Amino acid sequence: MSDTRISEEAEIKPVDAAPQPVYLKDYQPPAFRVTHVELKFDLVPAATRVTAVLHLERHPDGAPGQPLVLDGERLSLKRIAIDGQELGESEYRVDDASLTIPDAPDRLRLETEVEIDPASNTALEGLYLSNGMFCTQCEAQGFRRITFYPDRPDVMATFSTTVIGDSASLPVLLSNGNPVERGELPYGRHFVTWEDPHPKPSYLFALVAGKLEKVEDRFTTMSGREVTLQLWVEPANLEKTDHAMRSLKAAMEWDETTYGREYDLDLFMIVAVDDFNMGAMENKGLNIFNSAAVLTHPQTATDAAFQRVEGVVAHEYFHNWSGNRVTCRDWFQLSLKEGFTVFRDQSFSADMNSAPVKRIEDVSFLRTAQFAEDAGPTAHPVQPDHYIEISNFYTLTIYEKGAEIVRMLRNLLGWETFRKGSDLYFERFDGQAVTIEDFAGCMAEVSGLDLDQFMRWYSQAGTPEIDAHGEYDYARAEYHLTLRQRTPATPGQPDKLPLHIPVRVGLVGTKSGEDLTLTLDGEALGKEGVLHLREEEQTFVFTDVAEAPVPSLLRGFSAPVKLRFPYGREDLAFLLTHDSDGFNRWDAGQRLAMLALDDLIAAHRNGVEKVMDARVVEAFRGLLNEPADDKAVLAEMLTLPSEAYIAEQQPVVDVDAIHAAREFVRQSLATVLRDDFMALYRANRSEAPYAPSAEQIASRRLKNVALAYLMSIEDEEAIELARQQFEADHNMTDVRAALTLLVHSSRSAVADPLLRAFGKKWAHDPLVMDQWFSLQVTRPQADALDRVKYLMEHPAFSLKNPNRVRALIGAFAGQNRVNFHRLDGEGYRLLADVVIALNTLNPEIAARIITPLTRWQRYDETRQSLMKAELERIRAEELSPNVYEVVEKALA
Ligand code: PHE
Ligand code: ZN
Repeated sequence: MSDTRISEEAEIKPVDAAPQPVYLKDYQPPAFRVTHVELKFDLVPAATRVTAVLHLERHPDGAPGQPLVLDGERLSLKRIAIDGQELGESEYRVDDASLTIPDAPDRLRLETEVEIDPASNTALEGLYLSNGMFCTQCEAQGFRRITFYPDRPDVMATFSTTVIGDSASLPVLLSNGNPVERGELPYGRHFVTWEDPHPKPSYLFALVAGKLEKVEDRFTTMSGREVTLQLWVEPANLEKTDHAMRSLKAAMEWDETTYGREYDLDLFMIVAVDDFNMGAMENKGLNIFNSAAVLTHPQTATDAAFQRVEGVVAHEYFHNWSGNRVTCRDWFQLSLKEGFTVFRDQSFSADMNSAPVKRIEDVSFLRTAQFAEDAGPTAHPVQPDHYIEISNFYTLTIYEKGAEIVRMLRNLLGWETFRKGSDLYFERFDGQAVTIEDFAGCMAEVSGLDLDQFMRWYSQAGTPEIDAHGEYDYARAEYHLTLRQRTPATPGQPDKLPLHIPVRVGLVGTKSGEDLTLTLDGEALGKEGVLHLREEEQTFVFTDVAEAPVPSLLRGFSAPVKLRFPYGREDLAFLLTHDSDGFNRWDAGQRLAMLALDDLIAAHRNGVEKVMDARVVEAFRGLLNEPADDKAVLAEMLTLPSEAYIAEQQPVVDVDAIHAAREFVRQSLATVLRDDFMALYRANRSEAPYAPSAEQIASRRLKNVALAYLMSIEDEEAIELARQQFEADHNMTDVRAALTLLVHSSRSAVADPLLRAFGKKWAHDPLVMDQWFSLQVTRPQADALDRVKYLMEHPAFSLKNPNRVRALIGAFAGQNRVNFHRLDGEGYRLLADVVIALNTLNPEIAARIITPLTRWQRYDETRQSLMKAELERIRAEELSPNVYEVVEKALA
C-alpha cells in the first residue's frame, strides 16, 4: 500500500520534470527578429480568437540555420501558414511551451490563429476578464499566453492591433498607440484598429475592452505638441479620478524639467482594473492600473493612498523612457528599468511633498522589508544570474535596492554629471534593448569615474555591514574614523568581495553643536564629506578637529548598508537635537529608542520589571515642546521603530517580547506626556476641506500619531475623541485612523457598532472594504485569527482578487506578528492553506503571499519547526514553478 503511494507521488512530480533555471551566462541573441506584427482579437469570454501575422527575418547576430522557435502556452492552434501557404503537420511542432518550425526561410510572413480562454484565466497573466472587462497583463511572459511569439524583451516590433467585440457589452476597445480605424460589424459587433509606431517588446503590449467611461485632459509638451490624456474607469469610479490626472500632468512636467524627457505619442491612456497582480503596468501608451493604485476620493482613500497613487502614476509614466524607449535585453536586466524608475519616482515624490519624510519612508521600507529579503533564503543580486520563474523576481531587491544603487551613482557623480549620463544613455540606446552595464557605462563615460568595483553592488547579494569606530586625539586635534565592511554569505554566494561604499559624514562639535569643517589628507571638504570605503578596513584621519566631535555617519542614508557605531545614549540625544542632516537626526532618535527597546526586550524575556529609559522620555518631551518647523518630520520622529524593524535587529526574533517592549514604551510615553500629546492632537485638528497637500497631510499625521499614543493607554478622553473623529466623517485618513485605534483597543463596546456601520456603509466599495478587512485582522487581541477565518467567508472577500488577498491574508501574516506567530501554529497553517489554494488559482500571488513562512530561520526552535512543517505540507502538493522555486529555496 505505502509502496504504491510513493510511486504514485513520484509520477505526479518526477524529478526530471522539476522546473529548470535559466542562466544569464546562457544569453543568446534571438535567431529571428520581428519587424512588424498585425494582431486581430475576436473577443469572446471563453473562446477568444487571436490571429497574428508576424513579419520575421533572421537576426544578423543569430547563428545561421537555427529553427524558428516561438513561445506559446495554453494556446489552441487553429491555423498556421507561411507566406500564405498552410503548413502541413510535418512542417512544425507544438508542445506545451512552444511552436517550432525547423526549416523556416530567412524572411517570412507567419500567420497563426489560436483560441484562448480568458474567462477561466485566474492567474491574471495574458488576456483575462475582470468584472466583465477584458484586459491583458504581459510582463514578463504573459504575451505567450495570447499568441505564438518570440516573447523576449530584445525582440522589438511595431504593432497594429484590431480589436473586435460585442458593441453592447464591450463599447470601448483599446490598445497601444493611436486609433486609426473603427466601424460596425454584423451581429451587433464592432471593431477598432490601433497602430503603435514605436517598436516595442511584447511585454509592453496591452488590450482593454469593456464598459468604461473616461475623463479627459490635455498636456502641451515642452516642444509644443498637444497630448490627449485619458483615464478610463467603470462609470461608478468617475468621481475618483481627479488626483491621478493631476499627478499624471505633474509627472509629465517633472520629467521634462528634470530629465529633459518628453512624451512621444498623441494619446496617453490609463485604465483602472479591479483584478491585478501588481500595482500597475507601463504598457506603451496604455498603462493598466490596479484600481487601488489609481482611484482616490477624500471619503474613500487615505493620505497614504493619495501619495501612493501620485507615486505609481509617475512611476509608470516615467517608464515611457526608462523602460519602453530604452528597454531590457533580458529579464536579468530587470533592475535596469525598475531601479532607475523607482529612483525617478522617489525623486518626484520628494519634490512634490516633504523630501526628508519621503527619504525616511523609503529607507524604513528598505531597512525592514528589503534587508529581510537580502538576509533570507530568497536573497539574490540586483542583477540575478539565474532564475526559475521570472515573476518571482519582481522583488524589493530589484526595485528598492536597485533604486539605492542608482541613487549612489547620482551622489557619486553629482546631479549635473548624472543627468549628462542619463541623457547619453537615452540618446545612445533609444529604441534598443540593453543591459545594466550599458547604463553604468554611460555614467562612467561622462564622469571619468572607475566604476568597476562599484558594479559589485549589482552582482553581490546581501546587505553589507559596516562596523565603525572613532577616536578623538586631543593632543593632535585629530579624529580617527575606522570603517570595516563585511557582506554576509547568501545562498550560492559564500564569499564576498569588498564593495565601493560612499559614506557621507559630518563631525558635530560637542561644544558648539555645529558641523566642524573637515580636513582629510590635507584636503578641505567643507562641513561634510563623502568617504569612499573600498577596502575591507580603512581608517580616515581628520585633522584640525578643534573640539571633540560626535560623528554623524551615513548621512541621508548614503548607501544601503547596516552601519554600527558604539554610540552612547548621550551621543544619540545630542545628535537628535544637533545633527544638521534631517535624516540622521531622525535616525539618532530611532537608535536611541532601539537601545531602550533592547533593554526592555531583555527584561521581558528574563521576567524582570520593565523600566522606561528617562532619556527617551526627555527626548520626546523636547520634541513635543519645541516649535516644529517641519510637522511632517516631527510626526516621523515621534514614531517608534516598527515591530518589523526591531525584529530585524534581533539575532533571534522574539515576537512577544518585541511587542511587549514596544507597547511598554508607547504606554510609558503616553502616561508621562499625556497632556503634551493631547495638546498636539488639539492643535492639529482642522475643519478645512480635504486636500492631499503636504501641509494637511503632515497635520493629520501628527494628530493621529498623538491620538495613537493616547489610545495606547485607553485614555477616556482619547476614546471619546476617537469616536468623535470617526463620526465627524471628514476624510478617510481620520476615519480610518480613529476606527483602527478603537478596533485595536479593548473597548469593543465602542468599536463594534462603528465597525459594523462602516462595513455596511461601504459594502459596495471594494477598496474601502479592503481597509475594513485590514484594520480588523491587524488587531493585537487574541481573536485576530478567528476574525481572519470569519472574514474569509464575507461576501466581499474572494481568493481570486489579489487586493482582497493582500488586505486580509497579507495584512494578517505581515503586520500582525503576535497573532501570525501564535505558538499553536494556527497562523502558519492558515497561511499555508491559502498558499495551497492560490497555487492553482494564481501562482504569482501564491509565491508572494508565502513570504512570511520562508523566514523561519529567524525564530525560536518551536516556531521554526511549525513553519517548516507547513512549508513541507505545501511542498507535497503539485506545485506551480512559482511556488516550487520559493519553497525549494526556503527549505534548502
Ligand atoms: N513593470 C511594472 C512596474 O514596475 C510592474 C509589473 C510587473 C506589473 C509584472 C505587472 C506584472 O511598474
Ligand atoms: Zn516599474
